[in-house]
Amino acid sequence: MPKPIRHVFVCSQNRPAGHPRGSCGAKGCAAVVDEFMQQWQQRQCFAEVAVTPTGCIGPCGMGPNVLVYPEGVMYCNVTKEDVSAIFDEHLLGGKVVERLVAPADVW
Ligand code: FES
Repeated sequence: MPKPIRHVFVCSQNRPAGHPRGSCGAKGCAAVVDEFMQQWQQRQCFAEVAVTPTGCIGPCGMGPNVLVYPEGVMYCNVTKEDVSAIFDEHLLGGKVVERLVAPADVW
């Protein structure tokens, strides 16, 4: 397996209703995970990009959250409509999508 240039972790965490931390699941992350998987398949960029649905990655109240390495960039409040920009601009283009970046006091 080739080492990917970038690896995106897409939070897929759920928690029970009423949990104090909430969850990305409660804020619709399933649609974001699905969109990442579909676009990964469409682009066939498996050697360049790795996509991994993951458990909690931190700022649950600002989810759905997405984390990209090697840069360590956290994107917050991501919708499925944002996935194309993250793929084209950052994962494949190397340019951070500034409008989605977590505030400095969050990450
Ligand atoms: S539940 Fe998604 S970051 Fe915590």
